[in-house]
Amino acid sequence: MSLPFFDAIIIGAGAAGLFCAGQAGQRGLKVLLIDHADKVAEKIRISGGGRCNFTNRDLDPAAPHKHFVGQNPQFCRSALSRYTPADFIALVQKHGIPFHEKHKGQLFADRSAEDIIAMLLAECEAGGVTRWQPCGVRKIDFLASSASESCRGSYQIDTDRGPVSAGALVIATGGLSIPKIGATDFGYRLAQQFNIPLVERKPGLVPLTFDGAGWAPYAQLAGLALPVQISTGAKKSRMAFDEDLLFTHRGLSGPAVLQISSYWQEGTPLAINLAPTVDLPAALAQGKARSRKLVSNELATLVPSRLADAWASREADWQRPINEASDKALARLAEQLARWELTPTGTEGYNKAEVTLGGVDTKALSQQTMECKAQPGLYFIGEVVDVTGWLGGYNFQWAWASAHACAHAL
Ligand code: FDA
Repeated sequence: MSLPFFDAIIIGAGAAGLFCAGQAGQRGLKVLLIDHADKVAEKIRISGGGRCNFTNRDLDPAAPHKHFVGQNPQFCRSALSRYTPADFIALVQKHGIPFHEKHKGQLFADRSAEDIIAMLLAECEAGGVTRWQPCGVRKIDFLASSASESCRGSYQIDTDRGPVSAGALVIATGGLSIPKIGATDFGYRLAQQFNIPLVERKPGLVPLTFDGAGWAPYAQLAGLALPVQISTGAKKSRMAFDEDLLFTHRGLSGPAVLQISSYWQEGTPLAINLAPTVDLPAALAQGKARSRKLVSNELATLVPSRLADAWASREADWQRPINEASDKALARLAEQLARWELTPTGTEGYNKAEVTLGGVDTKALSQQTMECKAQPGLYFIGEVVDVTGWLGGYNFQWAWASAHACAHAL
């Protein structure tokens, strides 16, 4: 008995899978989209605080290394330049979805992420896509075609709803973050099944943690947010971000830390300038010349008062009126605030990470189509690939662009 046949089967109905399915279907292909989760596109639903930061206007497709991390950030150049933020914005506008720009080119839906999900589902419907959800995938086999056959072989897929086959198989199962809403290592295991190399995975865009005793003096600052400059890495590979930092009970979070976490290497320090827009030595010297206030009170005019109190309480030299503090003590205070060096002990892990760094090695894929060079008809798109964007809509743009590249090659 022959199995139900599709031109393409896409596993994973998240951002990349839904978009790829709609595009491929609208090209006239018979597409089956499979996802094991009860609810469709849960990660889009929770993204951007429920408003989905769906792309970023500042993305420069010609310079992907500016906003993407991975062993070869240039890999995504082709897909990003053939499907740009402007293309996705045009689609959002075509569907009448109101949106706004928030910060550094980040675009969000005005109402809710549900608008973006509804748009992707409507695009699938327009393409006549069949969606099986929830539906688990049990086993995948590749049947190579004999030399006399024109097609390159087919994929036989055993699912909870029975066996199916397809000429092309697209893996869009995403990364490992937020397992409770359906993230699995399916894509990585499938890559291993077909001997596709993987780059080591670790949580990205994730809060960083510090050991209990070392962090105790700062735990009282939990909830405090302030603009900082944060950096990591040796001179040549140094990465720095000017963003907001958030103190938590266990460590540091906020956009500054999420961004730097994708570059931070275990065991290495971070450097944080807690007052990047202030000339601290000059401001403290001026304070000393005109004020008799406590150092902490004078400092509170330059940085948030909770931080000023906590910092000044660290040394006896700083717990006195500023006019009585030595120049040396004030210089030390300025220096420490401008270059707070600390080494995280870990991250909050996949439960809190927005993305997974690493994944399917881009060396194994065609940058034009996302197809595996050594495995005909097998494609990987979206976050499962070793391409990770910065915070700010870059990860969704990669999902859309890689899905588009694949859909137009199927
Ligand atoms: P995605 O995770 O979207 O989809 C994968 C799908 O595969 C899921 O539906 C899953 O159920 C399915 N699946 C997994 N295993 C399976 C299996 N074994 N069998 C069948 N199906 C399986 N990015 C951004 O650009 N802007 C933003 O605002 C945010 N905000 C944000 C907030 C939070 C809290 C998180 C965790 C992440 C973000 N992101 C983001 C990142 C963004 O959500 C992410 O990069 C994309 O959703 C990746 O799209 P994919 O389609 O590759 O995976």
